[in-house]
Amino acid sequence: MASSSNVVPAAARKLDGKVALITGGASGIGECTARLFVQHGASVVLADIQDDLGARLCAELGPAASSYVRCDVTSEEDVVAAVNHAVARFGKLDIMFNNAGIGGAACHSIRDSTKEDFERVLAVNLVGPFLGTKHAARVMVPARQGCIIGTSSLASAVGGVASHAYTCAKRALVGLTENAATELGQHGIRVNCISPAAAATPLATGYVGLDGEAFEMAMESFANLKGVGLRVKDIATAVLFLASDDARYVSGHNLLIDGGISVSNLTFGIFKE
Ligand SMILES: NC(=O)c1ccc[n+]([C@@H]2O[C@H](COP(=O)([O-])OP(=O)(O)OC[C@H]3O[C@@H](n4cnc5c(N)ncnc54)[C@H](O)[C@@H]3O)[C@@H](O)[C@H]2O)c1
Repeated sequence: MASSSNVVPAAARKLDGKVALITGGASGIGECTARLFVQHGASVVLADIQDDLGARLCAELGPAASSYVRCDVTSEEDVVAAVNHAVARFGKLDIMFNNAGIGGAACHSIRDSTKEDFERVLAVNLVGPFLGTKHAARVMVPARQGCIIGTSSLASAVGGVASHAYTCAKRALVGLTENAATELGQHGIRVNCISPAAAATPLATGYVGLDGEAFEMAMESFANLKGVGLRVKDIATAVLFLASDDARYVSGHNLLIDGGISVSNLTFGIFKE
């Protein structure tokens, strides 16, 4: 069960009575967002391929507020079943968080990049959100409301921070977000995405090949905003904002959570102390 110390007082809850489906909900950003959503009064369906982690998290959050469904986001059948599961279990779908993703091979040479890796990264990181958006819209359009959020990346705004495959997938996700926001706005549905810089999750630490303090130190050395450090909770908090009525008129937006690095270029040296 969600521990009572984590329960947000009723008046401060931002998602009371809402139902959310979170892909990649068993780990990292998805897991942290699921915890935060439940604290804010939502029911969550976790859709992932890590069954043990998903089941364990559900046991912790409690069966009244959470449910796990095995879903490979590259399979349309699985995504259909996950959306249907959310509606069957909790009666509706208010929030679709297309968050599942993979880093793919940490290969930064176009000459050494493989077609297999490129296609796999696009399948999970782009086709997955396409399917999630499509089938969330299927149940949200008749309800004339809903909110869809994708997890893009700093790579959507800056070159040179990830592989070609990952960069292409995350940039295309912004295109999907803008196009879907345009279409689905006609039905009262908001569509946004978030673009975080690096935070310590299994995906990011595995990709960079550093863990713990070494990972934090490396990220701090690249950061524009010094002495703060991006935490997974910061990302979940941004998702909560976009999912809540605080963002009721925000749609088609790519919310960068990057401490300003995507708009800064210190190589000109004009801000030297
Ligand atoms: N951590 C970062 O620094 C960072 C930065 C920018 C964007 N992102 C994005 O955040 C999202 C979440 O990643 P994370 O960092 O929390 O990593 P993570 O590895 O902790 O979580 C990703 C989850 O997605 C699941 N997943 C992978 N393939 C799947 C599939 N085919 N179907 C269903 N689920 C699948 C994994 O099992 C895992 O639970 C990803 O889209 C990633 O690209 C992460």
